[in-house]
Amino acid sequence: MPGALSVKSALLRLFPVRSGKLAGRTVRISPHAECWSTERLCLFPRAAFFKGRGTREDSLLDADKYENDPELEKIRKERNYSWMDIITICKDKLPNYEEKIKMFFEEHLHLDEEIRYILDGSGYFDVRDQEDRWIRISMEKGDMITLPAGIYHRFTLDEKNYVKAMRLFVGDPVWTPYNRPSDHLEARTQYLEFLAQSA
Ligand SMILES: [Fe+2]
Repeated sequence: MPGALSVKSALLRLFPVRSGKLAGRTVRISPHAECWSTERLCLFPRAAFFKGRGTREDSLLDADKYENDPELEKIRKERNYSWMDIITICKDKLPNYEEKIKMFFEEHLHLDEEIRYILDGSGYFDVRDQEDRWIRISMEKGDMITLPAGIYHRFTLDEKNYVKAMRLFVGDPVWTPYNRPSDHLEARTQYLEFLAQSA
């Protein structure tokens, strides 16, 4: 397993720079994704929202005020993330902890986006790149990630064994994981088509 990458570096590995250069606070790195130089990341498979450089300077997410954060509200509205809850993953707080941790670390995909906003603690998302190699993404407080439907991934805690994360969803949540291999699923086909278009 290679070393963990920041969310921004991981995104750059997944979607190499096609337009614009890595400079300024907001960097357009593909037709489908956007990231911020402050390491906050949204990885949108399609219909990304783009902002001009610097427009988010004063409007970044603030994990300390997630209950009343206009920036979070804005993203939820723009992306139609109508549903949310908060999950705390640690031994004392999560029922069936051992079983859940094992399940999160099984390589799987979903039929919908998986959206996580780290409010406290940290962990790793591992995702597959175009060559089917793992990319380890270090997720820390204030990072938001949207994994596209159909991408193989897994999640694990780091040595702190603690993360508190907001889970967001469009409509009623469906968390069903489809363990690999699940290449026959429509979501997988669509994701591969998206990758081919981005190449
Ligand atoms: Fe997942």
